[in-house]
Amino acid sequence: MYCTKKITEDLTWVGADDRRLAMFEGVYSVPHGVSYNSYLLNDEKTVLFDTVDKAVQHRFFENLAYALNGRKLDYLIIQHMEPDHSAALSELLVREPDVKLLCNEKTLEFIKQFFTLDINKINIHIVKENDTLNTGKHTLHFITAPMVHWPEVMVTYDSKDKILFSADAFGTFGALNGALFADEVDFNKDYMDETRRYYANIVGKYGNQVNALLNKAQALDIETICPLHGFIWRGNLSAILSKYALWSVYEPEEKGVLIAYASVYGNTENAAEILACLLRGRGIKTVMFDVSVTPASEIIAAAFRWSHLVFASATYNAGIFVSMEALLNDLAAHNIQNRTAAIIENGSWAAASGGLIRNELEKCKNMKILAQTVSIKSALKHSQLPELEKLAEVLAADFPRPAVSAELKSENQENKIAVIDPNAMFKLTYGLFVLTAKDGGKDNGCIINTAVQITALPLRISVAVNKANYTHEMIIKTGEFNLSVLSESAPFRIFEQFGFHSGSDTDKFADCGYNERTANHIRCIPEHVNCVISGKVFETSDYGTHTVFTADVTQSFIVSEEPSVTYQYYFDNIKPKPQPPKEGKKGFICKICGYVHEEDTLPDDFICPLCKHGAADFEPV
Ligand code: FEO
Repeated sequence: MYCTKKITEDLTWVGADDRRLAMFEGVYSVPHGVSYNSYLLNDEKTVLFDTVDKAVQHRFFENLAYALNGRKLDYLIIQHMEPDHSAALSELLVREPDVKLLCNEKTLEFIKQFFTLDINKINIHIVKENDTLNTGKHTLHFITAPMVHWPEVMVTYDSKDKILFSADAFGTFGALNGALFADEVDFNKDYMDETRRYYANIVGKYGNQVNALLNKAQALDIETICPLHGFIWRGNLSAILSKYALWSVYEPEEKGVLIAYASVYGNTENAAEILACLLRGRGIKTVMFDVSVTPASEIIAAAFRWSHLVFASATYNAGIFVSMEALLNDLAAHNIQNRTAAIIENGSWAAASGGLIRNELEKCKNMKILAQTVSIKSALKHSQLPELEKLAEVLAADFPRPAVSAELKSENQENKIAVIDPNAMFKLTYGLFVLTAKDGGKDNGCIINTAVQITALPLRISVAVNKANYTHEMIIKTGEFNLSVLSESAPFRIFEQFGFHSGSDTDKFADCGYNERTANHIRCIPEHVNCVISGKVFETSDYGTHTVFTADVTQSFIVSEEPSVTYQYYFDNIKPKPQPPKEGKKGFICKICGYVHEEDTLPDDFICPLCKHGAADFEPV
């Protein structure tokens, strides 16, 4: 029974998942399966992009027959001849004897090597860089991508629908599990690690070639990427492109230390654990792997992620412990470079692993290998702790530390008592924003003061939203919002309208005369703002009373050149001055909205009836 999925009106996924495969390419475990993607374009001509692995070819042919719906297959574009995408070729030729194969010279060479076919009886057309094929409404452009992952690889660009068929590039380990697009799943949480593991192990060695493909892709207007494994990327492609931009030049994604250790009786492991504690104590992100347990492909992927690598190994047969030796060979084979590395060795009578690890690391490009190797005899002794502390200190020197004021420096730190003055928070700079969201037919908005740009490439912002706001509930549900940045002309009524009521029992947009919506169909504020930014949430972090939503910017435009209103400006110029309590009465004023509570005391659990801030935000009048 077929299982196809529509990508566009003309394009259908006809691939299949495989969850029975234990080792992809015989070497990479795929505990979550793998997908083999094949795509059928139904235009005036029918075009198939690659086939699938032999393990799933039965399902593939059912899918293909269903998607063809009785039509003949006119073209097969072979982008990659590795058997996980071409094994079904000979069977396809039996079923579709008139199909024309479009491939390059190198591919033809591989067809002859892999199959026993009478080439003269096959309709083959050789294509070159920038050749095109018109299929009716669509024009397909062929772009070579040698060594991403094999020498014959090419990718194809459909200029009508702005789709890049990217062969192995942008692929992911893992079955699709009924989804097709990366935005249908929680990609960062559930699939990012497998995407990195796929990249590092499959094409990680070929960074220059991947970079060349990225440069070619930059010249194209791409809206969708269809790889041969894993999810299809559409819309905002910056999430995956920015990762590829780093990986292809071997730049780490994050500053942190990866400790890989090979330990026979746990003593080398113990030294590694102590180093990890010392690093964590210095606020440095640290991850650890026992190389005898964790598959090398996971550690290689982690090495592409982290900036600093520590290798700790027992000496074994006068060499490096076997699993560590294999890992180092693998890392070098995958071209790992541009990292800072450190070494811990262990040896009960003739420690040799440290020097040998150093030799292996020196084969990698641009490796800064720290001079001091910590050398253990059997087990770490207390007297050697300073050596590990020194190593932690040297590694930590590469990580930024918080600046310490001159006043703090001069104090006796040992006797200092930490106090928290909540007023310190008012020294932070804040803007004021109307955050809007939409759930079905219901619109809502609230005032927030925390919104920042996180990165430029990809363009991302974060907003912090109180969970008590109805807008928060909507964003949790829909993952989308608009941020209207209030400007200095904003009247107090906007703050009253969006800040002092709950959207769950009122329609905040009723009678306001604002009808404008952005491309995501969410309302925005059209006046007294200087810009509007639309966000699509990709990460949600729970901070108790608030949630921080980090989002890709999907739209942004300038409304006016007026300065943004700051928190301070709001207090000084917009918020009405509070009326003093009646004579003889005491009172407390809300520092947020100016509401005055006319009583002698303020209960600890008091909540401002206007802005819903707690007693901590009140001060005596
Ligand atoms: Fe999925 Fe290089 O093949």
